[in-house]
Amino acid sequence: MSQVFKDNIFSGKVVFVTGGAGTICRKQTETLVKLGANACIIGRRVEPTEEAAKEIAKVRENAKVIGVGGIDVRQVNQLAKAVDQCVKELGRIDFVICGAAGNFLADFNHLSANAFKSVVDIDLLGSFNTVKACFEQLRLNKGCVLFVSATLHYQGVPFQSHVGAAKAGVDALSNALAVELGPIGIRCNAIAPGAIDNTEGFNRLVTNPSNVDKYIPLQRKGSTSEIADVTAFLFSDAAKYVTGTVIPVDGGMWHLGFPMRDFYPEKLASQLRDKPKL
Ligand code: HXC
Repeated sequence: MSQVFKDNIFSGKVVFVTGGAGTICRKQTETLVKLGANACIIGRRVEPTEEAAKEIAKVRENAKVIGVGGIDVRQVNQLAKAVDQCVKELGRIDFVICGAAGNFLADFNHLSANAFKSVVDIDLLGSFNTVKACFEQLRLNKGCVLFVSATLHYQGVPFQSHVGAAKAGVDALSNALAVELGPIGIRCNAIAPGAIDNTEGFNRLVTNPSNVDKYIPLQRKGSTSEIADVTAFLFSDAAKYVTGTVIPVDGGMWHLGFPMRDFYPEKLASQLRDKPKL
């Protein structure tokens, strides 16, 4: 992480993170914990979530980090139970990161209605459910929410209609909640990561990683710690007048669009000829 933040700026704060065992959200959590926060990370799988919590706790002496597995963000009641456990063990919730997400490459013809729904449910409904379950704590503590979005919906990106639609919804949700909840002191913002190296998302989506850098104005991929730095900024007092924004952290890549020249439209043509998968 960068050295611009003072130690202990988040002392006494608790962050609740869905997808906290994943690559990006894990680094976000580590950074907030390093800067003084305690954390509760949520995941679908029990063992990796509990294991990640133990590892994250090592970044600061006396840090408390709990991992609550077996939670599907599509189920608001499961999230509510996780919130209860977090409050019981860590005392409160100040910050929320809606990070759980699902993704895979699929063209429209091979993307079933259920596959589309799965991703929209995890990314968009899951974000709604997370804020819903945390709302009492956010209201009590004048908390702050961070949605993890994407830049895919700034253009039409093939093979990503499901994720683009879900993340456009996430941006809309963030904006609406910023306006609705601002009067009671709750801030809501979103981060839109670009090509972030060594992440599950990047590995799933990019088939030719060495080719990507030249399409990024800053001429390199980003790192998870660069996402975490902007996360720390948004939760810090330095951003106390910032709400309702989406910050792309992508080296400027969205201005050039996703590099499609290598496969567009030829690769699509063959996919679109098959019998549609319902
Ligand atoms: C087409 C696919 C598919 C694929 C799954 N499906 N993978 N369709 N191509 N590669 C379809 C299935 O066939 C099924 O539809 C439907 O999706 C649901 O699949 P399930 O496995 O039953 O659902 P579920 O267990 O809920 O899994 C959710 C998932 C899965 C999203 C489909 O991939 C997952 O759990 N991913 C979690 C981890 C993850 O994706 N991390 C990456 C996050 S990165 P049918 O019709 O057969 O029933 C990220 C970055 C975004 O999000 C932005 C980057 C720029």
